[in-house]
Amino acid sequence: MRLFVAIALPEDLRALLSHLQGGLPGARWVAPDNLHLTLRFIGEVDGLAAHDIDAALSEIRAPRFALTLAGVDRFGGSRTRSIWVGVEENDALARLRVKIEHAARRAGQAPVGGKYKPHVTLARFKANPGARLHAYLARHALFRAAPFPVEEFMLYSSTLARSGATYAPQAAYALSDTTAADHVSVKKSSLSIN
Ligand code: 2AM
Repeated sequence: MRLFVAIALPEDLRALLSHLQGGLPGARWVAPDNLHLTLRFIGEVDGLAAHDIDAALSEIRAPRFALTLAGVDRFGGSRTRSIWVGVEENDALARLRVKIEHAARRAGQAPVGGKYKPHVTLARFKANPGARLHAYLARHALFRAAPFPVEEFMLYSSTLARSGATYAPQAAYALSDTTAADHVSVKKSSLSIN
């Protein structure tokens, strides 16, 4: 199975993001239900490795935090591959990501190269979207959503199909309430795949 670790977005935020999804010919817009913030792409693993990853993620202790999506930009420069909404700088997110990276390595996953750039992909492109992209990016550059509370992170499986990927939550890992003294994280569900 193909796995990744991500933060799910609340429905109202996904609805807000869906208003950014239009006006670009050739864009393959991500279905609003699929909009998410990836923390760590895992890739193809067997069932045993999936259980090791799940176990390692379950051990993570980290506090809840607020996250703000802001800005719209692209990957790929002049050969644009995708457009996305960015994330305002966030130390709690960075610390959580480090913990997830360590957990993935404890579970035997090879480190991922390259710098992590938190983003929510809005659309992907097979062909260059052309001149309209500049106007689109300029129009949405100042986009900023209200902060939302991140109370858990998720392990998703991804099934690739011609019509696009289908994501299915496999497990949720609760973040602790910072007002609690002990920072206990409770795992809400266990991996539902074999
Ligand atoms: P993307 O949105 O920028 O494409 C599921 O594919 C999630 O994992 C997506 O959010 C995707 O990011 C992310 N991801 C990161 N690295 C990936 C890779 N090498 N292959 C596929 N998806 C990757």
